[in-house]
Amino acid sequence: MAPPIKLALIYGSAREGRFCDTVARWAAAQIESRPEFSLHTIDPAALDLARDGETLRRRIGQADAFVVVTPEYNHSFPAPLKALIDSAYHEWQAKPVGFVSYGGISGGLRAVEQLRLVFAELHAVGLRDTVSFANAHQQFGADGTPLDGQGATRAMATLLSRLAWWALALREAREARPYEGAAA
Ligand SMILES: Cc1cc2nc3c(=O)[nH]c(=O)nc-3n(C[C@H](O)[C@H](O)[C@H](O)COP(=O)(O)O)c2cc1C
Repeated sequence: MAPPIKLALIYGSAREGRFCDTVARWAAAQIESRPEFSLHTIDPAALDLARDGETLRRRIGQADAFVVVTPEYNHSFPAPLKALIDSAYHEWQAKPVGFVSYGGISGGLRAVEQLRLVFAELHAVGLRDTVSFANAHQQFGADGTPLDGQGATRAMATLLSRLAWWALALREAREARPYEGAAA
C-alpha cells in the first residue's frame, strides 16, 4: 500500500473569534475518517510569518496535498491567507489544492475563484470540486456539525477522493522526475 498522503489543512482566517475553527474542525473530522490521509494543520493565527517562514515552508514542502478552509472578505480571501501562501514558492509546485469555503450568500465562492488564480501562478493544481457553506453561521448546529450533514459530507467525500487521486498521481510524478526541470 502507498504511504499515507500527507494532507495539510490550511486555516484561511486569523481573526479572533473566527468561524473558521468550526468549519475547519468539521473538515478535519472528515479527513481523519479516511485512512489514505495523514492530517497536519497550518494555522496563520499560530504563526508569526515574518519569523516562522522557514518552518512554514518546511511544512508546506512536506505536504502532498492541501485543503484550504477559507471565508470571504470583501469578495476575496483574507490577507493572512495570502501572506501564508506567499511565504513559499517551490514547496507548492505540482501539488493539489482542494477548497472548503464559507461566508454569506455566496458561500465564499468568490474567494475560491480568486485563490484558483493564485495557486495556478504557484504551479499548484486547484481541484474543480469545492465544499461551500452559504450563510455559514446558520448552517452549523451548536455541536459544530452542519445541519445538512449528509449533503456536506457527500460533497467533502467527493472532494477528498479526487484530492487523493491527484495527490498520488502527482507524488509519483514528482518522484519520477523533478517538476522544476519540466517547468523550464
Ligand atoms: C472584513 C470582512 C469582510 C467580509 N466580506 C464578506 C463578503 O464579501 N462576502 C460574504 O459573503 N461575507 C463576507 N463577510 C462575512 C464572513 O464571510 C463571515 O463573517 C465569516 O464568518 C468570516 O470568517 P471568520 O469568522 O472565520 O473570520 C465578511 C467578514 C469580514 C470580517
